[in-house]
Amino acid sequence: MSVLHLLAKQPSLQRICHPLHLHVLLQFIAQEDRYGAHNYAPLPVVLSKGEGVFVWDIENKRYFDFLAAYSAVNQGHGHPKILKALIEQVSKLALTSRAFYNDALGEYEEYITRLFGYDKVLPMNTGVEAGETAIKLARRWGYDVKGVPKNQAKVLFAAGNFWGRTTSAISSSTDPSSYEGFGPFMPGYEIIPYNDLGALQQKLEHDPNIVGFMVEPIQVQTGLCRTGRRLASDWEAVKPDLLVLGKALSGGVYPVSAVLARDEIMLTIKRGQHGSTYGGNPVAARVAKAALQVLEEERLAEAADRLGTKLRHALGIVASQSHGYVSAVRGKGMLNAIIIAERPGATAWDVCMALKENGLLAKPTHGNIIRLAPPLTMTEPQLEECIAILKKTLMSFAV
Ligand SMILES: Cc1ncc(COP(=O)(O)O)c(C=O)c1O
Repeated sequence: MSVLHLLAKQPSLQRICHPLHLHVLLQFIAQEDRYGAHNYAPLPVVLSKGEGVFVWDIENKRYFDFLAAYSAVNQGHGHPKILKALIEQVSKLALTSRAFYNDALGEYEEYITRLFGYDKVLPMNTGVEAGETAIKLARRWGYDVKGVPKNQAKVLFAAGNFWGRTTSAISSSTDPSSYEGFGPFMPGYEIIPYNDLGALQQKLEHDPNIVGFMVEPIQVQTGLCRTGRRLASDWEAVKPDLLVLGKALSGGVYPVSAVLARDEIMLTIKRGQHGSTYGGNPVAARVAKAALQVLEEERLAEAADRLGTKLRHALGIVASQSHGYVSAVRGKGMLNAIIIAERPGATAWDVCMALKENGLLAKPTHGNIIRLAPPLTMTEPQLEECIAILKKTLMSFAV
């Protein structure tokens, strides 16, 4: 059965869509299905506009965006300051490659290194490229500074990690849907359990060839103010030797990523030994500086902390009234999740479809978990509205 037939049979879609609109909606979905690779399973909503905490679909129905593009849009959709930086720079000079200097990169490099307290930054584009870059830096530091024998460097990862989809990134994955059927894998990686200091200590004490431990403080998108601090690692007062940033570094308007390090590490890579055609281009530089300034000027870490406390409190009450249907609520700052006690006809996917009908977009993750991660620019009244939608929807499934 084609995706079109399946979707047309979805009662929730039929309920909310006029037959003509359903036809148009399905045309967009069918076009992607026919001509695009089938590597995603989107919720059946076709978006065409975004502003602040809202997105609109092709019928002009408005939704609260509770995914924020996996936390890339922490600053809200179309933030005017970030858009201004993008538009001004793209119409002046978009790309030079790093074969030449440009008049935007140095200013951004100075800003970001001062903000996070590192000597230097290496600019890339996507998150996974920054992760790859960090591993190259760790290996290079291992050989040049630590004295690890040639090609013997090992990098540690925590079970359950996720840092992207390249062959290198999936080589560290413990999730078969990420790695199965894509081997052979990158050598020199080892996995230890997540949140197990003893296991980490044991490895570090007994293996002199370890050059790095790559870890997310919480194993989802925690960067740039989302958890209620500028970095999730700030909660533990830990300063990583290599800081890998992506996603909200551009506020969602452009792919921008970066690795920050002190000179001892960064200067092990010499001129001509690593690079990227688009990395550090003038548009990325202007956009990233503006995106970081918005996070600071609008105090979005504090906002995440304040709003998150309120949201979790409200969801805790819903959970206590849900007869066990919401079995847990957890999170930090504005990175939160509810765990659903699924039953036929009341799965996390069904809840997300009902939330969509009620004007809020969220997506299930790892089966029965629904991640709640809206833009951090949300106002208190908007949060109240969202809490009401979540409560009404979840209670409609609680029996
Ligand atoms: C925690 C984490 N790291 C890295 C990545 C990879 O980023 P990108 O998709 O920009 O390559 C992702 C992507 O979702 C991620 O969630």
